[in-house]
Amino acid sequence: MFINRHTPYRFKNGLIMKNRVIVPPMASQTADEGGFVTTRTLEHYRRLGRSNAGLVFVEYSYIHQTGKGEAHQLGADSDAHIPGLKQIASVIHQSSAIAGLQLVHVGGKASTDLTRSPLMGPSAIAVPVKGQEPETPRPMTEDQIQSWIEWFVKAAGRAVSADFDFVELHSAHGYGLNQWLSPLTNKRTDPFGGSIEGRSRLLLRIAAEIRATYPSILLSVRLPAQDHLDGGLTVDEMAWVVLNLNPLAWI
Ligand SMILES: Cc1cc2nc3c(=O)[nH]c(=O)nc-3n(C[C@H](O)[C@H](O)[C@H](O)COP(=O)(O)O)c2cc1C
Repeated sequence: MFINRHTPYRFKNGLIMKNRVIVPPMASQTADEGGFVTTRTLEHYRRLGRSNAGLVFVEYSYIHQTGKGEAHQLGADSDAHIPGLKQIASVIHQSSAIAGLQLVHVGGKASTDLTRSPLMGPSAIAVPVKGQEPETPRPMTEDQIQSWIEWFVKAAGRAVSADFDFVELHSAHGYGLNQWLSPLTNKRTDPFGGSIEGRSRLLLRIAAEIRATYPSILLSVRLPAQDHLDGGLTVDEMAWVVLNLNPLAWI
């Protein structure tokens, strides 16, 4: 069969995407200061739905207050956000696209003005950001690692309750999970650091836990591929992570 971007795709759970055009997550900065959906957010996603794409991803949404990066970022950190998120999924579905929600903890890139709490990260190393000098995060304890797993899984549950078809873990662009993957920001000597196996342990655990808890929702992971910095992530390491995430078994 000849396949092009217009060819529908049937996922393993039976869901059909009407074509293979995907709108990637893009922060619209339209949420209110509590991370709640506004009429501008709905209008934005209504318009993206009208693009006729098969899948529309909703922008990076924080899973916990400590992982918020911008004042008007969308929140998925409490059940109070579910009704608004449900409205977004609904406007996307109205144009017969399927809907995805991207989840993030921005880790050492959080805005402490907004979070009013210390930065969290794998190690006490400031995230390299061009033209900026972010503060140094506090290395996370084992309890805090467990909290990240719980926050991501709970936020995925909110995506399920809000009728999203897809949930995406944002593990790229230097945000929290990327900081765990990268040898530049993860210098831990415990099982969550060291080789790529250790550095990806948190991401793989979160993915496994979401699949086990919410098997009905499709899961994707946005990976950085490489850091583009000396001593950073390599394509081979990322290939190892992809193989271990084993996406073809699920989608
Ligand atoms: C305004 C804006 C906001 C973005 N917000 C996000 C985001 O929330 N999550 C994300 O993974 N990528 C985000 N991106 C990156 C885009 O998803 C996309 O990768 C980028 O625009 C490059 O597009 P291309 O991959 O088609 O070249 C954003 C990009 C722009 C321009």
